[in-house]
Parts: sequence; structure tokens; C-alpha cells
Amino acid sequence: MPRSVTVVPVAVLLVFALTACDGGVRGSAGASGVRDPYFPKSGNGGYDVTHYGLTLGYDPGARRLMGKAEVAARAEQDLSAFNLDLKGMDVSSVEVEGKAARFNRSGQELTVRPHDDLDKGARFTTVVRYSGAPETITDPDDSEEGWLRTADGALALGEPTGSMAWFPGNHHPSDKATYDITITVPEGLKAVSNGELRGEVTRRGRSEFDWHVGEPMASYVATVAVGKYETRRSKTADGLPVYVAVDPEQARASAEVLARIPDIVEWAELNFGPYPFSSTGAIVDREDDAGYALETQNRPVFPGAPGTDLLVHELVHQWYGNSVTPKSWRDMWLNEGFATYAEWLWQEDHGGDTAQDVFDALYEDDYFDSREDSDAVWAFPPAKPPSAAHISDSPVYERGAMVLHKIRETVGDDAFYDIVQGWAAAHRHGNADTDDFTAYVEGKAPDEDFSEIWEDWLYGEGKPGES
Ligand code: TRP
Ligand code: ZN
Repeated sequence: MPRSVTVVPVAVLLVFALTACDGGVRGSAGASGVRDPYFPKSGNGGYDVTHYGLTLGYDPGARRLMGKAEVAARAEQDLSAFNLDLKGMDVSSVEVEGKAARFNRSGQELTVRPHDDLDKGARFTTVVRYSGAPETITDPDDSEEGWLRTADGALALGEPTGSMAWFPGNHHPSDKATYDITITVPEGLKAVSNGELRGEVTRRGRSEFDWHVGEPMASYVATVAVGKYETRRSKTADGLPVYVAVDPEQARASAEVLARIPDIVEWAELNFGPYPFSSTGAIVDREDDAGYALETQNRPVFPGAPGTDLLVHELVHQWYGNSVTPKSWRDMWLNEGFATYAEWLWQEDHGGDTAQDVFDALYEDDYFDSREDSDAVWAFPPAKPPSAAHISDSPVYERGAMVLHKIRETVGDDAFYDIVQGWAAAHRHGNADTDDFTAYVEGKAPDEDFSEIWEDWLYGEGKPGES
């Protein structure tokens, strides 16, 4: 029907002409991603979130999450439309500045057309009401994240893209925000999240838990854990609140290691500077509940009782990863290299192998039991993973730590600790990338030549030669 085909463009043109002439400057649509080299659809352009107010209700029996997300943001351009990331779930309504907004969905993009255009610089609040069975997402490396069902409830894990399974947001590490997270669950269960517990009430068979995160948080380290937990509140010698939630089955096995949290935080403060957040702790679920530990802000999550090294690793991520957060997923080694090196330093300071011993064993391919694992360290340079499937491989962890050891070897211990503390202070509660890091190190030790370390250890393919 060629005739009708010509009619449509005329109508479309007419609408365009009308909307373009109805007075004032029209904004444009914000971008649907922030061009992350590994997760291009993650995050959105045109605005910056300042605060999330999440009001959630979860019923593990029905596996149903009801959510209201209030997203406070600042427009970074004139906006006629913008995107939020949300994977799965049914959206029932969206409001912007109190007025109903049109919206549509395509994949993980929730596109919102506010009733009134937003001016660059304007602060605006979007309210999204949604419900459904939140999804478990399989990562490019085959690990599982998003909303995981556990033996007695659920666990939300967000690295790298899982948080879009349970709330709409700007899901990229470059946009950090403060949070209030309120979760209601059936009486008898608890809901644990990030930050500090502000209130807890039970009425009519439901218990509500109000959590407040006053320091900026990347959405990938946001968490909610619903289940039967033994909870314990205490304080470090410095008065930092410690909140620990443990699956009763794991209570015995984890009591001793969790009692070390204050010691570990104190040791880490001596090495890396002041603890960056207002509380600490841990969440311990059962071994089968998750495939890995994660440095969720304030209180990392562990599947089963962690060893001391793993607890050190996740707690040190609070400085490197959660306070100083990567600008993109390419900069993962700034998280994992530091957290891994912290394990080596902990061992060195507590009568174990020195960091030099670990470095040497890795370099001699004598650290891992298998040839395959030993070779994997040299598979690619830490600052250039070959694809999204490899951002948590051994070069990012062990070889990333080796980069830090090479810097320490070059500048000596005093300057090295100045550098790692100064780096945490310089980007506290912010974002940084590998270029920021190399420039920072060079600025701190202007008489040293780091070019070989950067070229061979950080960016170079293959195993660096002996020098
Ligand atoms: N960050 C976690 C840790 O080292 C590991 C991890 C879990 C991870 N999921 C990931 C790393 C996804 C990279 C991407 O404690
Ligand atoms: Zn880690």
C-alpha cells in the first residue's frame, strides 16, 4: 500500500513542526549509556543522581518485590527525556516533579518523558513505582548477580550490573549518590542493607527496617539481604558502629573471624588513612547463597564464614573501590589490585609471608597450584582487560597487586604509604581512573622513573621481563 506509506511521514513532520514551534528552547534526550568500554548500556547521560530513596517490600514466599524509588538528580543538560536502567520488573507509574510522566521500556532502558522539559542545572525528583519478581542476572563471566534467592530469603549483589534488577537508577560507578533504603519483610525475617540502621518496627505481621547511607555510594555496592539473621551491634575502640548479620547456620564458624573486624579496620586505618564511612560490619549468608564475596558498602557480603584474608580484602575495598571508585569498569584493577595487595600487607604484618615473598612466588609461577592458574596471571595487562568477561580475572587482582609492589620497591616504604594514603584522601568519596593514578604517583615521587612499570606491568602484554 504505497499510498498510505507517504501519509505517515507527513503526519510525523507536522508533529515535529508543531512541537518545535510551541515556544521556548526544547531540551534533548539524555544518552542511554555513559560509553563504558565494557558495559556500554550501563548508566545514562544528561543528569547526575544525588540521592535515592528506596521503599521496598519483599515477600520471599511469593518472591515478590514492591518498590517505590525516589531518584533526586540534577540535570546536566536541557532534557526533554532521560533514561534510567531497570532490568525486568513491571513499572506502574513514573512521576517527575510530582507530575505524571510518560515512559517506555526497551531492554534495560526505562525512558522517561517528563511533562515539562528540565533545564540544565535544575534539581528534579523522579518517582518510579514498580513490582514483580526481580531477576538473577548472569554476568559475562558466568557468575550470578542481581537478586539471588537464598535458603531463607534473598540477597542483592550488584557488581557490575546487578543493581538494575531491584531498583531503577543511573547504574554506573561514575554516578554515586546517598541513599535511604527502607525494606519491609514478613515478621520473623530481617532486612539488612548498607549504612546505618535508623529504625526498626514490627506491626501487623510485617517488620520494617530503615537504613541510611550518608556518604556517596556506587549502586554496584548497594545491597539488601533478607532472611533469618543473628545480628550484633558493637563499636570499635574509636566509636565506629559495627553491625554484623549472620545466618544462624554460620554463626559458630564465623564468630572468631568477625570479632577481628575492629582490629582489621584499625590496622587498615594505620596503612590507608581514616575509615571513609560511618559504620562497618559484615553479612554472612550460607555457602550456597552466593558464588563469591562482595565489598558491599559498609558491610561486605560473604557466602559462608570468610577467612581472615578475605575479610581484610573486602574491608579494604571500603577505601579502594567504595570511597575511591573507578570511573569505568576498565579501572577495576584500582579496586582489586589494592584489595589484594592489602592481603599481602596484612600477612607481612602478622608473621606470614612478606609481600616480596608473594610477589616472587607469583613471578616464578610458583604461587598457584596449577600451571593454568600460574599462566593466567600473565594473560593480559591489569589496566586493559580484553573484554567484560575478564574484568575479574587474575591479572586484575594478582598482577594489579604486583604493580603496587613495584611502586613500593621503587619509592621505598615511607613514600609508598604516603602514596596509598594520599590517593585515598585525594579521591575520597569520588571517582578516579588509571591515568589519575599514574599521574598521582608521578607527582608524589617526581625524581623516580615509573615508565617501565607503567609500560611493562600496567599496560604491557605478556609477562614482564626481568630487569
Ligand atoms: N569484587 C569482588 C571481590 O573481589 C569480586 C567480584 C564479584 C567481582 N563480582 C564481580 C569482580 C564482578 C568484578 C566483577 O571481592
Ligand atoms: Zn575484591
